[in-house]
Amino acid sequence: MHSCRQVVAGDVARHVLVAGRASSRKCHCVWQRVHQQAQKRKKLMEEDYLEKMPPRRRHAAGEKIARARERKGTAMGYFREATGIPGPSGFGSASTAEQVTDGIDASLLTVIITGGSSGIGAEAARVMALRGAHVIIGARNTEAASEVKQSILQSTPSARIDIIQIELSSLKSVRAFAEKFLAMDLPLNILINNAGVMYCPFQLSEDGIEMQFATNHVGHFLLTKLLLDKMKSTAERTGIESRIVNLSSEAHMTTYRTGIRFDKLNDKDFYNDKLAYGQSKLANILHANELARRLKEEGVLNVTANSLHPGLIRTNLARHSIAFVGALQTATCVLWKTIPQGAATSCYVALHPNIKGVSGKYFADCNESKTTSNGRDELLGRRLWDFSEKLVTSA
Ligand SMILES: NC(=O)c1ccc[n+]([C@@H]2O[C@H](COP(=O)([O-])OP(=O)(O)OC[C@H]3O[C@@H](n4cnc5c(N)ncnc54)[C@H](OP(=O)(O)O)[C@@H]3O)[C@@H](O)[C@H]2O)c1
Repeated sequence: MHSCRQVVAGDVARHVLVAGRASSRKCHCVWQRVHQQAQKRKKLMEEDYLEKMPPRRRHAAGEKIARARERKGTAMGYFREATGIPGPSGFGSASTAEQVTDGIDASLLTVIITGGSSGIGAEAARVMALRGAHVIIGARNTEAASEVKQSILQSTPSARIDIIQIELSSLKSVRAFAEKFLAMDLPLNILINNAGVMYCPFQLSEDGIEMQFATNHVGHFLLTKLLLDKMKSTAERTGIESRIVNLSSEAHMTTYRTGIRFDKLNDKDFYNDKLAYGQSKLANILHANELARRLKEEGVLNVTANSLHPGLIRTNLARHSIAFVGALQTATCVLWKTIPQGAATSCYVALHPNIKGVSGKYFADCNESKTTSNGRDELLGRRLWDFSEKLVTSA
């Protein structure tokens, strides 16, 4: 796994900064307290300012403050990402999947990871197995998945790993995967919806759905739907919270103007590979948020759903856009992570006790983070849910 590790300039820079961090943990805590107090004071001043405003200008002023906060949050996010400075969770962009799961016993857990045959998914599978979980790798390329399994068994001979074939762009294949898994009569504690494609040329899936949306969102929407009862019953029976984790991306910020293009989803003339990827990654967030909302409404508190951005990591994901991603990496080298760092947020959200009871949130660098207004749009989330339901029932 470590052969995939890429040492990029940003990584070196981050390690220099992180080296100093160990000795300055105490300073960090003091800094955090001072920062929290300053934030509190600022919030009170803003509230005071809004109260003194004439009512007709209050709404616009409130929105201006919210936008300024969002800009500051984004800048702070990039700063943390580049420096590796840990956030409130105690972890940051420099943390690896092994570090964030250190001391966690997952031996009672069964985990499904889609796309576990490569990149972030393969590393998450390795670390989950290392912590004792029974890992089911969902992969379309079972040969590649077998190689991952063998390499995990070499480092962790006690690892429990099974492979089930899944082609996420095919609803038939997703149904077959769920049937095979359910026939194994295993519990299901964690579902990591990780598989993904990026920036591929326009193509329709066998069900007639645009390929990035079909693979990244619709396949995972159906898979989650088919496995949800199993996750509920596992949580009920074992008393251990079940967790659904959707791999999204900061690319959700770069989507079509309306967020999701319901009416022109499958229209080649309106296709843009970058915006279509952003759209599918926005769908991953909205799916987790709406699922979390529905579970709460149902009174199911022991199943959670969250989404995350793993960071920028050089993996096979870039296969359709090597030149573009290469240029992006050169321009933003300080923000890039290694694969073990890239799998950290997935493992943190799936396993860490800090996340107990947390649902409907978005994470980056192992800390709760903010999405765009589209990502927080409940109405859009409900509309996407109904739309996806129709897609998976009609095809
Ligand atoms: N790398 C990054 O910088 C980055 C940034 C933000 C978000 N993400 C997200 O992180 C997730 C993992 O990406 P990665 O970087 O680890 O990429 P990766 O190395 O390409 O891994 C993606 C995995 O998904 C599988 N997959 C793709 N299409 C599939 C399909 N139709 N059916 C079944 N499996 C399929 C791939 O299988 P094959 O090997 O057979 O293709 C592979 O195992 C993705 O959801 C991605 O959007 C990555």
